[in-house]
Amino acid sequence: MSVADGKTERSHGRSDLLADPGLREVTITPDPIYGRTMTYRAIPAAYLLKEARPGADDHVQVRATDGFSVSIPARLLIQGGPGGAEAFLAVEPPEAPWPVLPVENQTASAGPFYLVWRNAGRGAISSEYWAYRVASLTLVDSPARRWPGLAVAAKVPANDPVRRGLERFVEVCMACHRFNGEGESELGPDLGRPMNPVQYFQPAALHKYLRDPGALRTWPERKMPAFSKEDLSDADIAAIIAWLSHKAGRQGSRPAGKPIPPGAGTR
Ligand code: HEC
Repeated sequence: MSVADGKTERSHGRSDLLADPGLREVTITPDPIYGRTMTYRAIPAAYLLKEARPGADDHVQVRATDGFSVSIPARLLIQGGPGGAEAFLAVEPPEAPWPVLPVENQTASAGPFYLVWRNAGRGAISSEYWAYRVASLTLVDSPARRWPGLAVAAKVPANDPVRRGLERFVEVCMACHRFNGEGESELGPDLGRPMNPVQYFQPAALHKYLRDPGALRTWPERKMPAFSKEDLSDADIAAIIAWLSHKAGRQGSRPAGKPIPPGAGTR
């Protein structure tokens, strides 16, 4: 895996990290991906990022080998989070491999590199911040600066759920989805174009889909995860849908949902 800060990029092999003096034994109770207590050999994220000098708003883009890519506030990785949450990069020892991920359609472990959080109280650390099969950590600007097209209109009040919706969309959904080309994940489809899901899903159906995608349609290769109430509260889902609707009303020059003129497309 590699660590980059804009100027330099350092590669770290599995054996180098397993022999590094910064290596610790870390117990995670419980590991939400494995669904049980796990003990790892792991490097503190703060130690791994010690050369990086992030600004207050900087983020770290954590990219995985499968196209998953999540933007995490650098201070959360370096200084820790609410309730003493601390990030570590767990390293899978070749002689003691981890179990296969107990996630639908998975056939390999979370390794060789897996971002885990100690003391992550329920809901304090976004579900997508537990990134498995990590390929790189890169210091970047905040999502608001990199992807200005996601922004909420200035007239929207500070406490409007639309603003919370954007925050949660960036923390959770953008690990797998882009929006109108903005973002960088390659795992799931763009949720802005050609159509925004609020243009073809009733809000209640979209809510149901996010809780359990298989409840709408399912197939062997389905990768869209189900979000539990701990991962995403009902209020957060409603806020994400409110943000998607807000964006659907402000897309491009042609109003979304413009009626098709009578007779169009008929012979
Ligand atoms: C771990 C990756 C991942 C995350 C996180 C994720 N999605 Fe998805 N999503 C996918 C993939 C992949 C698909 C394509 C269908 C499939 O493979 O299941 C998808 C499909 C969808 C669809 C399209 C459904 C359709 O058939 O038209 C919607 C809507 C959607 N996701 C919304 C969201 C929202 C909103 C979030 C955040 C709360 C989110 N997704 C988080 C991976 C993800």
